[in-house]
Amino acid sequence: MNESHEPTSQPESTDTLTNRQGHPVTDNQNVRTVGNRGPTTLENYDFLEKISHFDRERIPERVVHARGAGAHGYFEAYGTVGDEPISKYTRAKLFQEKGKRTPVFARFSTVTHASGSPETLRDPRGFALKFYTEDGNWDLVGNNLKVFFIRDPLKFPDLIHAFKPDPVTNVQDGERIFDFISQSPEAMHMITFLFSPWGIPANYRHMQGSGVHAYRWVNEEGKAVLVKYHFEPKQGIKNLTQQEAEYIQGKNFNVATQDLYEAIERGDYPEWEMYVQIMSDEEHPELDFDPLDPTKLWYKEDYPWLPVGKLVLNRNPADYFAEVEQAAFGTGVLVDGLDFSDDKLLQGRTFSYSDTQRYRVGTNYLQLPINAPKKPVATNQRGGQMEYRVDKGEHQNPHVNYEPSIIGGLKEATQAGKPHTPYVQGEVKREAIDRTNNFGQAGETYRRFHDWERDELIRNLVNTLKPCRKEIQERMIELCTACDADYGKRLAEGLRAGNGAEMDDTHRGPIGSTESESAVRQAEQ
Ligand code: HEM
Repeated sequence: MNESHEPTSQPESTDTLTNRQGHPVTDNQNVRTVGNRGPTTLENYDFLEKISHFDRERIPERVVHARGAGAHGYFEAYGTVGDEPISKYTRAKLFQEKGKRTPVFARFSTVTHASGSPETLRDPRGFALKFYTEDGNWDLVGNNLKVFFIRDPLKFPDLIHAFKPDPVTNVQDGERIFDFISQSPEAMHMITFLFSPWGIPANYRHMQGSGVHAYRWVNEEGKAVLVKYHFEPKQGIKNLTQQEAEYIQGKNFNVATQDLYEAIERGDYPEWEMYVQIMSDEEHPELDFDPLDPTKLWYKEDYPWLPVGKLVLNRNPADYFAEVEQAAFGTGVLVDGLDFSDDKLLQGRTFSYSDTQRYRVGTNYLQLPINAPKKPVATNQRGGQMEYRVDKGEHQNPHVNYEPSIIGGLKEATQAGKPHTPYVQGEVKREAIDRTNNFGQAGETYRRFHDWERDELIRNLVNTLKPCRKEIQERMIELCTACDADYGKRLAEGLRAGNGAEMDDTHRGPIGSTESESAVRQAEQ
């Protein structure tokens, strides 16, 4: 043991522990002290470095979707969309050639709960993909469910605040949730899915994925169509009842992360077939909903799911923090041939992602290996915390970090195909869309459920609404009735049967919880 803890010249083997300056660590058990009982000395660099790095090991968790798991894999293109060549609709290179593989990183997540929370809670699941294409990265930041709660991004912070724990008690509260939801009728479709077994996927491998929004595809001529993306798990779909989820949660609250990791370790690689639905890029007045409304499905019967490729996950991250925690996805990350639509929610999201990532991960988050494209980056952006790219590439004069330049700076790229140039005209105003139709599809979804799914939906809504005040219950009965008369009737009956409107606030609890009160009482007897 080297008493002085100074760097030594003793031979190092490849597994020698060093500090971050490369100094071999000769004593990792004892801090430096005056005598062996202390006090400790302050110049003990190794200790100060070790503890101060530990003090900073966490970065802020994602403001939503904090709990997640990730995996590497690839996307393999079919070169077609249904039985047509895909080039008819998009010039995006990753889709063109049959058998072409593009590396992918996927991150799945729950939404509301904190980074160490159970993975069996009722919540949508995130389904975020980063395609490392030859044209740079494409992120598709979707969910398992195909619709969303709201259609205006201004409401997102309120939606999330209502679902997150009460700022006083730090406990999720069904009354806060339904206080908000009962005044946001556009959420009824999503709520109908969320409180059914579709709100608790059994794990990440057995769930669907969806881009939710309408995006645009642009072809060589600059012509656009609207598309929606979907992923169908080849493993099948499995959802849980509330009771099953609680049983599993009592034994294992990491069930989805563990399932994904172990499946990949044993070579049972999860696969999803990727589909698109296509609609012409118009307002479609013949529909009773707006094609850009993210609270709506495009029914398969009307807009068939057309296969375009498959997604395979075949490699676990080597380091959870470096790859999964620091992964940063955003809806603005598109490549040539893929574009936004005018969906307001989508456009609001596009600001939010890179904004939060500059705060959560840091200014240069795009230099991290998990986020950097797998093609050379040549940019005039310099500096910022933790800038480490020293080599600017052989094509750039390192003195020239501006454009235009005739002394060796970077040059603009040539446009790949004809640009898509939509024409937009209108009054600037704050106004909801015309065809809100908040209840039609929610009712249809209710009717299309299997009996056990409907039973679960009613049970979960009743259990969550029971402790809420009467006005909120009444509003929810009204909204469910507007979706489907039977839906409203069954909710009203359920609430009347066990109406807890007179219950006091102490009975409130997380969404969907079953008889936890009585279970606790029994345990106490
Ligand atoms: C994560 C904002 C709607 C899917 C996030 C994050 C923010 C955010 C700030 C954290 C990102 C990070 O820290 O890296 C918003 C806003 C929305 C919205 C403002 C609406 C206005 C949606 C919708 C979907 C969605 C509609 C699904 C289609 C996701 C997913 C993640 C995420 C999957 C996790 C990404 C990951 O795994 O890192 N969102 N979101 N979000 N959001 Fe949204």
